Amino acid sequence: MAKPDKGHVWFGRRDFASKVGWGSFFAFMGVMLGGSLRFMFPRVLFEPSTTFKAGFPTDYVVGVSEKYKNEKRVWIVKNDEGFFALSAICTHLGCTPRWLSSEDKFKCPCHGSGFYRDGINFEGPAPRPLERFKITKADDGQLLIDKSVKFLWEKDQWGKPGAFLYV
Ligand code: FES
Repeated sequence: MAKPDKGHVWFGRRDFASKVGWGSFFAFMGVMLGGSLRFMFPRVLFEPSTTFKAGFPTDYVVGVSEKYKNEKRVWIVKNDEGFFALSAICTHLGCTPRWLSSEDKFKCPCHGSGFYRDGINFEGPAPRPLERFKITKADDGQLLIDKSVKFLWEKDQWGKPGAFLYV
């Protein structure tokens, strides 16, 4: 048998089998350890909070506030009696309508649905009014919006507690 060149590592058959055996063993252990670690740290989806404070009632004037439209997709609407929190998600296919103050309406740029200031749909393909979210006062007096609680006009829920905040 020819001797290997200098610089090459030469294993005998037994050495090779031994190294393959140990390699397989460590690979197996690695897979098992990885599986155990994954079990110990399950994949959890951390969703952003559904509630947020929207400042003090005195921060608002009568009309539609777009302060939380981009970040929360919510309009805070104030009228002479109080507040409601209107979803900025079109009930047609979910685009974000625009508030057109000069025309006193919300207009969806996608397919043209229109909604009155109170959220009622009056034109375009939107099948129902915009949804409202729960609005209450936090302990510190700020408006507290809870997006996990919705009030639907078509289910006659806009008169329920939390759908409107009287001030
Ligand atoms: S998504 Fe608003 S009209 Fe279609």
